Formats: sequence, structure tokens, C-alpha cells
Amino acid sequence: MASRILLRKSPPSLWGRASEARGGGTVVLHSPDSLRCWGRNFAKTLHRGNVVALMGPMGVGKTTLAQGIAEGWGCRTRATSPTFALTNEYRSKRGFLFHMDMYRLSKRELKTFPLEDYLGEGVCVIEWADRIRDRWPERTLEIRLKYAGRNGRSLTLKR
Ligand SMILES: Nc1ncnc2c1ncn2[C@@H]1O[C@H](COP(=O)(O)OP(=O)(O)OP(=O)(O)O)[C@@H](O)[C@H]1O
Ligand SMILES: [Mg+2]
Repeated sequence: MASRILLRKSPPSLWGRASEARGGGTVVLHSPDSLRCWGRNFAKTLHRGNVVALMGPMGVGKTTLAQGIAEGWGCRTRATSPTFALTNEYRSKRGFLFHMDMYRLSKRELKTFPLEDYLGEGVCVIEWADRIRDRWPERTLEIRLKYAGRNGRSLTLKR
């Protein structure tokens, strides 16, 4: 069972450091850049075959975080929202990064989306991953974003 360290119980001086909560827990990030930076650091802990499930309401920062993860994975091209393409592929020395978005898929399409074809080929970062939760592989890394004030975002990672 994944442990959850709630860093919000820590002094405010610890909030929002891009290195916090990489092992699991909650951190508050106060700008798009700090969220991207958190993603870059988090990507250092990833391996081929990892699946990262990004969840949170519309506009909360899932694509922003995916951009940071892609940068940290070594991709040179900045990740853009795959809402229309469903899956964008990026390549780095470490392998592929597949950036997926489940938002537009109907219930039927969610059942036939070829997720398994991507697993093992690289890292999968999935926006609106809760829509496909019944197909998550074991050990999926779960990241939930929430609004926290005007420009703040709380990020909870469950490993
Ligand atoms: N702390 C923050 N972290 C991330 N984004 C922030 C933050 N503060 C403000 N923003 C703004 O919020 C927006 C986040 O957009 P983004 O496309 O990353 O969200 P999303 O969750 O992928 O949206 P969608 O649900 O449409 O896929 C951007 O305009 C960004 O500048
Ligand atoms: Mg998005």
C-alpha cells in the first residue's frame, strides 16, 4: 500500500520545492515553471515501462506537468496537448515517451484504445487517466493535481 506523506503539514518554507514529494506525498507548486521543474525532477526516477496517470480538473496543469516530464525524460521537442491526436510520441536516448489524453474518448473508444501496445516501449504519461482506470497496469504512478489558490496547484503522488 502506497504511503502518503502530507507535506502540507510541514512548515511553509518546505512548500513548493521542485524536489519534494518525488517519493510520494503532496506538494504545492506556485507557478507553471515550478510544476514543469517538478516534472523534470520526477522524470529522473522513471524507467521504461512506467505509466504515469495524470488526473485533475480542466486546465489545472496536466499538460504543463507532462511537458516537464518529457523534458526530464530527455525529449528535445516541447510536448503539446494530445487532445486531438490522442497520443503524441517523443523520442529520447532513454526511449519513447507517449503522451496520451483520454478526454475526448467515448466509453466505447476507451475500451478499444490500444494502451497495451505502448506499455513496455517507453514511458506513458496519460492525461484524464481516471477515465481508463480499469485498464491501468499494476504499479501505475498516480498524480492528482488540484487548484490551490490563484496560481497554486497541489500535486499528490502515489507510488
Ligand atoms: N502553478 C501552476 N501550475 C500549472 N499551470 C498553472 C499554474 N498557475 C497557472 N497555470 C496556468 O494554468 C494552465 C494549465 O494548462 P494545462 O494545459 O497545463 O492544463 P491541463 O490540465 O492540461 O488542461 P486540460 O484539462 O484542458 O487538458 C496554463 O495556462 C498555465 O499557465
Ligand atoms: Mg491538457
